[in-house]
Amino acid sequence: MRILIEKADCLIYEDNDFNFKNSDVCIDGDLIVSVGKIPESFSAEGVIDGRGKLLIPGLINAHTHAYMTIFRNSADDLMFNDWLFGRILPMEDKLEDGDSYWGTMLGICEMIRTGTTCYLDMYIKGDENARAVCESGIRAVLSRGLVGKGNDKDGAMRLREAVDEISRWNGKGNGRLSFMLAPHAPYTCDPDYIKIVMQSAKELGIGINTHLSEGRVEIKEIYEKYGCSPIKLIEKTGMFSLKTVAAHCVHLSDEDIEILAENKVSVATNPVSNLKLANGVAPVPKLLKAGVNVCLGTDGAASNNTLNLFRELSMLTLIHKGVNEDSQAVSAKEGIKIATVNGAAALGLDGIGQIKVGMKADLALIDLNAVNMVPNNNPVAALAYSANGSEVQTVIVNGEILMENRELKGIDEERIRYEVAGIAKRIGA
Ligand code: NI
Repeated sequence: MRILIEKADCLIYEDNDFNFKNSDVCIDGDLIVSVGKIPESFSAEGVIDGRGKLLIPGLINAHTHAYMTIFRNSADDLMFNDWLFGRILPMEDKLEDGDSYWGTMLGICEMIRTGTTCYLDMYIKGDENARAVCESGIRAVLSRGLVGKGNDKDGAMRLREAVDEISRWNGKGNGRLSFMLAPHAPYTCDPDYIKIVMQSAKELGIGINTHLSEGRVEIKEIYEKYGCSPIKLIEKTGMFSLKTVAAHCVHLSDEDIEILAENKVSVATNPVSNLKLANGVAPVPKLLKAGVNVCLGTDGAASNNTLNLFRELSMLTLIHKGVNEDSQAVSAKEGIKIATVNGAAALGLDGIGQIKVGMKADLALIDLNAVNMVPNNNPVAALAYSANGSEVQTVIVNGEILMENRELKGIDEERIRYEVAGIAKRIGA
């Protein structure tokens, strides 16, 4: 479809900086074909009024577990190990076929409603998440979570399932769907298993999504077992030679930071989840200074408890100021870059994350007349410090309108709410 967005204030990324330009934006098929002057040959089939609105590239959630919306507000105020082993895993064991689809759909609704157009997911049940992505219209990089020791039977089965899923779904949804492999964490996967997963990733030509250095218990356990930090351990396996997104990276030595920078590992920081599970605060300013590509994630709704990247952006740009007593620690501009440009780089999707001719039309239109956004003194500051996600009015992914004036298109939100509430009740969430 050919869409014209008229006279919106567009957030343009140029020369490592953000600027605003009041422009017409033309979309043809899945691509942005002009920003500024409307090409003479362009005839729009649909027109969106952008006056009084801010057009931003859709936000990129670089770490989540979308199906975990099922567990929202059911495991709170617990320390990490009690949360995971005492509460989440027993509930997960009760999930049945089809549950993950509904949980993922609910997560997708929430992400679209709050301006997220692409996410990197880790989950336990294949095919259902892919189906949800295809049906909903959102863009995603999917990865089935893998747990294993050496060449044990269960670990091998999970890897086989992941590889099979990739062969069925990669590139589906008009190219919206791609994959990584996801060895869950160094405390659930031993180095030999990680090497087996790496081999498959190499053969498939895809990257790795993992959790690293999230909490102190993990750091202690890995030191006791292997005599080094989780980052050092994973470096020794050779995994960082593959394109890697490492979630959390909260507890890092200077040497760890050097290793991440040297190996061009992308770090997906999840400030709210780290706070809620009392894991601490990641050294994001130090990572940025070392040149690490930091991107932003919400983690699952079981530890956040929302998938709203505006809340995450606010936390990201506030917490490091307070902790470091430095008002420049992570600026509003840096935060927005982390949630867009850096997210795209982390996921290896160079066609998204910016409003630019030739990029995919993954966009969110934000109401500048919302009371909390007025007056429009500084839109960059407004995005980081004033917005809460409810200002997102219209969302486009791959040139398709997924939400218009806050109404989701082609998604039966009422049915999704009903199904997820039923699942939560059944598993005792
Ligand atoms: Ni996670």
